[in-house]
Amino acid sequence: MDYFHYVGDRLYCEEVPLDDLAQTVGTPFYCYSERTLLRHLKAFQQAFAGVPSLICYSVKANSTLAVLDSLVRQGAGLDIVSGGELARGRRVGCPAERIVFSGVGKSEAEIRAALEYGILMFNVESPSELRRIDRIAGQMGIKAPVALRINPDVDPQTHPYISTGMSRNKFGIPHRQAMAIYREAMRLPHVSPIGLDCHIGSQLTTVEPFVEAVRRVRLLVDELRAAGVPLRYLDLGGGLGIPYGRGESPPLPDLYAQAMLKELEGLPLILILEPGRVIVGNAGVLVARVEYVKEGDEKRFVITDAGMNDLMRPALYDAYHSILPLERQFDREERTVDVVGPICETTDFFARDRLLPEFREGELLAVRSAGAYGFSMSSNYNSRPRPPEVMVRGDRFAVVRPRESLDQLMAGESAFPEG
Ligand code: LLP
Repeated sequence: MDYFHYVGDRLYCEEVPLDDLAQTVGTPFYCYSERTLLRHLKAFQQAFAGVPSLICYSVKANSTLAVLDSLVRQGAGLDIVSGGELARGRRVGCPAERIVFSGVGKSEAEIRAALEYGILMFNVESPSELRRIDRIAGQMGIKAPVALRINPDVDPQTHPYISTGMSRNKFGIPHRQAMAIYREAMRLPHVSPIGLDCHIGSQLTTVEPFVEAVRRVRLLVDELRAAGVPLRYLDLGGGLGIPYGRGESPPLPDLYAQAMLKELEGLPLILILEPGRVIVGNAGVLVARVEYVKEGDEKRFVITDAGMNDLMRPALYDAYHSILPLERQFDREERTVDVVGPICETTDFFARDRLLPEFREGELLAVRSAGAYGFSMSSNYNSRPRPPEVMVRGDRFAVVRPRESLDQLMAGESAFPEG
């Protein structure tokens, strides 16, 4: 459920017509509905409200400060994967005890910065990382709270590029090695193993893989507790999918929570969840203008001023995003088209062979479900300044990040110095 809807023929975000925003900020631009964001977060928080739990929004999905600020104010914690994301969390005042740090390649500097801030725990992905954290915490004269991220070897049945919980993936510690590494963590002087973590993939559209993973994890947790590992937290990661308009109907947070809680009954641990996409995905759109319509021999191309540098999900995962005209017309013909961008790459498309209302040159369109992994994965490829981001709250809006200027695009660069 989101707050992008037509009023008459015009597409609105909450109470603001998107074409008005286009007039004000130009195209392309991202637009987020704060009400949608907060509604999704609340749905997640309420789904787990019956048990001690913390929802740590996964910053990588959309790390824009305004988004983080809104979510943190409503009680979200943060799941971070870099020093940059930590800095963003600090900037919006996220309390340290609501931050977990995941990722397979944490650098020394990142570990030190997180220890200085005093985060809730590190989700450790290898024995070498565990020893590195122990050494750095030792230098700082403190003890680092850690969870081991376990790879349960479960097929999440999603796109292979966003599957993380199978033994062939680089993520986590193999299930079989867990006990030995927890034992090592207990022996190391400067880490305390207080949690267990697991994340199997992203854009999951059924609960079964989650259930399979949590069953394996539960068995392991029971074994570890029996062996005296003082676990307090169980982090189940993120991964719940969203409808992209292609007929998927992923379980709602409520159903997902019920399925998880059923498997975890009687377990006296605090649950941590790391949802990203399900919070922000359908809270954002990318608005673009049609520059040209070109009739090829085989195809008709709708060429927009947004490209794969602005939203790379279709190029990278062949992802489906639905596309809507900002001005709806019921008598309009439909045409099968490719909606493409201006970038010099054949993968620069938003839709291929898609039946859509006939778009005219100069017209505005919205690429939906672009709130997650949209702006956060954008780049300057083809030396294109990144688009602005607008947040809507009711009948008000704010440009929460202006369009990049050409000066910003080249900031800090120089030719090789003479002499
Ligand atoms: N926790 C961990 C450890 C993760 O690696 C991820 C996502 C999440 C939580 C959040 O997952 P979510 O709830 O958003 O599914 N760029 C890809 C998605 C990559 C996901 C990476 N990890 C895409 O555009 O589909």
